[in-house]
Formats: sequence, structure tokens, C-alpha cells
Amino acid sequence: MTKRLKAQALIFFGPPGAGKGTQARAVAVEFGIPHISTGDMLREAVRAQTPLGLAARARMESGELVADEIVSGVAAERIARPDCKDGFILDGFPRTVGQARFLDELLKEQGRGQPLVIYLRVDSEVLAQRLGGRRTCPICGHVYNMYFSPPLRDEVCDIDGAPLVRRADDNEEAIRHRLASYCAMTRPLIDYYRERGLLYDVDGDRTPEEVGGNVIALVTQEEDDRLPVQSGNRKATS
Ligand code: AP5
Repeated sequence: MTKRLKAQALIFFGPPGAGKGTQARAVAVEFGIPHISTGDMLREAVRAQTPLGLAARARMESGELVADEIVSGVAAERIARPDCKDGFILDGFPRTVGQARFLDELLKEQGRGQPLVIYLRVDSEVLAQRLGGRRTCPICGHVYNMYFSPPLRDEVCDIDGAPLVRRADDNEEAIRHRLASYCAMTRPLIDYYRERGLLYDVDGDRTPEEVGGNVIALVTQEEDDRLPVQSGNRKATS
């Protein structure tokens, strides 16, 4: 059996703290495709104090969305890189109907077909706990959670011993704004993609491994490479 992705563009969608990054990282490793997180790219720009970072910083720290034109440009530039030619995972993009339309056009121009959208559904009380408990290692990037997957030693990375850090927007007020922005601007995309038959609803309130098993099954297409190759049977490449 050859395992392939069902779509070239996978969108990991859901509220802040739903587990988009956690699941996107695992699927990217499984299929050897890039994990494109607009949040990570913007945070990197903030750290490097580039013009993009300077423009985005205040909105990110208060939990507001960054302007569509800025984020869409960042995503398009990343998707244009050669490592995305066989597929990629979008984590946190699109987040508004304007961004979704922009992406539709981009995928059409590039002949990549329709995206597949994984919607991770998690209740808001659980989200607040996940965001409040998140800690990240600034050296290796490993993500912990003080409630669900704590490090062995308090606030220190198990892998390299670095003191763990809390994201600038993981405080109570910014979390409230992020959840409000999600409800007002991003949740309408559930209907946008459901009406197009592209949305897969996943219960995100299970262990990361259980959610991951479900997600991998949804994005994977298995092909029997023992079948003779005829019209309609794709030839296995590996
Ligand atoms: P972004 O970085 O995308 O943040 P977010 O959407 O708020 O999502 P998070 O990264 O907080 O959560 P996640 O769903 O990835 O969860 P994670 O896997 O980390 O965006 C940040 C900001 O950038 C935005 O507010 C905005 O300003 C700007 N921005 C980015 N993209 C934009 C766009 N397209 N348009 C406009 N502005 C944009 O998990 C969270 C925690 O839970 C972790 O501790 C993890 O260990 C734990 N966890 C995960 N899964 C489980 C599980 N199953 N069980 C228990 N714990 C779990």
C-alpha cells in the first residue's frame, strides 16, 4: 500500500488552543511536508524586529488579528517556496473569509485542487486551560502544558534544561480577545468550508495521540500498488 495525502493543501482550523500546532507538527513529520504556521512566522518577525514584525506586534500581543493583506502576503510567499511543491499544512491560515477567498484563488492559479480542512473542536473552558498552561522551550521549541503534559522539573525543558517561556499572548486578557476574534472573524469559515464539502469535524478534546490518529486517517489515502496501472490507477512512486 502506498500512502498519499488526499489534498495538497491541508488546513488545520480551530479556536486558539485547539491543538492546531500540535497536530500539524505531527502530520508534517509523518508526510515530510512543511508545516506553515502564520502565527510562528509573525512571532519570528516580531523577534527579528523586521518591518512586518513591527507592524504586527501590538495586534498580536493584544490578541487581535493582523490585517488580511499582511498575512495573506506572508502565506503566499511561503507557499511559493520549492519545499511546498508536493503539499503543505496551513496552521492558523486562513482566519477570515477574505483570507479564505485569497487562498482559493491562489490554489486555483497553481492548479493544486481544493484544500482539505481539519476542524479541531474543543470547548472554551478547556481552551483557556490549554492556553494558560502552555510553555515553550526557547531553544528546541518543544511545547509543554503545565496541566496536561508538564516537564519533569518545574518550568525547565526536559530536553535541554532551558527555562521555559510563556507566549506574550497567553495571558488572561489576550486570551479573552483571541477567543472573541475567533468567534467574530474566524468561526464563519466553518460554514464557508462545510458548504463546499471540504470540512472534517474532529473531536479535539481527547489525548493528542487519539486526536492525531483520527487526523492522520482523515488526510490519508491508501493506494494498492499491486494493482496493474491502467487509466484511473495512479502509479506508485515508492
Ligand atoms: P497563532 O500562533 O496561530 O495562535 P492561535 O490560533 O491563537 O493558536 P495557538 O497557537 O494558541 O493554539 P493551537 O491551536 O496551535 O494549539 P497548540 O497545539 O499550540 O496566532 C497568534 C496570533 O498571530 C493571532 O492572535 C493573530 O494576532 C496573529 N495571526 C496568526 N495567523 C493569523 C491570520 N491568519 N490572520 C490574522 N492574524 C493572524 O496547543 C495549545 C496547548 O495545548 C499546548 O500547551 C499543547 O501542549 C496543549 N495541547 C494540544 N493538544 C492537546 C490535547 N489534545 N490534550 C491536551 N493538551 C493539548
